[in-house]
Amino acid sequence: MFELTGKVAIVTGASRGIGRGIALTLAARGATVVAAARAENAAATVAEIVAAGGKAEVASVDVTDAESVTALVAGVVERHGRIDVLVNNAGVARDQLVLRMKRDDWDAVIAANLTGAFVASQAVVKTMLRQRSGRIINISSVVGQMGNAGQVNYAASKAGLIGMSKALAREVASRGITVNCVTPGLIETDMTRAITDKAQDDWSGQIPLGRIGTAADVAAAVCFLASDEASYITGHVLAVNGGMYM
Ligand SMILES: NC(=O)c1ccc[n+]([C@@H]2O[C@H](COP(=O)([O-])OP(=O)(O)OC[C@H]3O[C@@H](n4cnc5c(N)ncnc54)[C@H](OP(=O)(O)O)[C@@H]3O)[C@@H](O)[C@H]2O)c1
Repeated sequence: MFELTGKVAIVTGASRGIGRGIALTLAARGATVVAAARAENAAATVAEIVAAGGKAEVASVDVTDAESVTALVAGVVERHGRIDVLVNNAGVARDQLVLRMKRDDWDAVIAANLTGAFVASQAVVKTMLRQRSGRIINISSVVGQMGNAGQVNYAASKAGLIGMSKALAREVASRGITVNCVTPGLIETDMTRAITDKAQDDWSGQIPLGRIGTAADVAAAVCFLASDEASYITGHVLAVNGGMYM
C-alpha cells in the first residue's frame, strides 16, 4: 500500500518544516524526490534522503518567479521524462491586523502561496496530460477554512488554493490527473515557532486531540493522496488538524 516506487515527485519548500517532512516520507515510500527551495536550501533534506538509501535531488526555485518555476519543471522533464506528483508546499506568512497591513504584505503572501502554486500547477499539467496521469497536492491551511484574525492575506491565499484545486480538478479529471488539498492545523515548524507561547497555548486548547501536529502527520496525508490507492479522490480537502476544525 502507498508504494511510490518509480514515481517522480516535486516538493516545493522542501528545505525545512512540513515540506522537508513530505520529501522524506515520499522518498521513504520509493519516490524520486526533487526537493526544491530557494538557493539550494533543500540540500540537507536531500542528503538525509540519500543517507537513508532513498533517491532525491536538490533544486533551486523561487515560486514567486514564474521563470524560475518553469525552469525547474523543464529540468525535471528533461532529466526524468515525467512528473508524477507536484506538492505545492512553499508558503509564507506576514501577519498583521487589517488596518495595519501593508499592501506589500498582502501581495507577497498571495504571490508565494497562491500564484506560486498556480504557476507550478500550470507548468506540470502539460506533462501530466501527456502521461494521462498525475497528482497535484496543494498545502492549504485550516486558516483558509475557518479564518484567523491577523491573517487576512494568509487566509485568502489558502482559501484561494482550495477553490483553485477544485476548479483544476474538474478540468483535468478526464485525463487521470487528481488535484487535492491538505489543510494542516497547528503544526510545529519554524512558521509556528514564531507565534508567541501564549498564542500557541490558546490554539492548543482548541485541538480535541490535545496536541500540536507534526510534519510527519501532514506528510502521511500527502503520501496517501500521491499513491495509487487515492486514484478515485479528487477535489478533496483533507484536514490534518487534530479536530481543531470539523
Ligand atoms: N506550520 C503550520 O502550522 C502550518 C499550518 C497550515 C499550513 N501550513 C502551510 O504549510 C506549508 C509549509 O509550512 P511550514 O510551517 O513548514 O513553513 P516553514 O517552516 O516556514 O517553511 C517554509 C518553506 O517554504 C519555502 N519557501 C518560502 N518562500 C519560498 C519561495 N518564494 N520560493 C520557494 N520556496 C519558498 C521555504 O524555503 P526557503 O526559505 O529555504 O527557500 C521553506 O522550505 C506552507 O504553505 C504553510 O502555509 C503550515
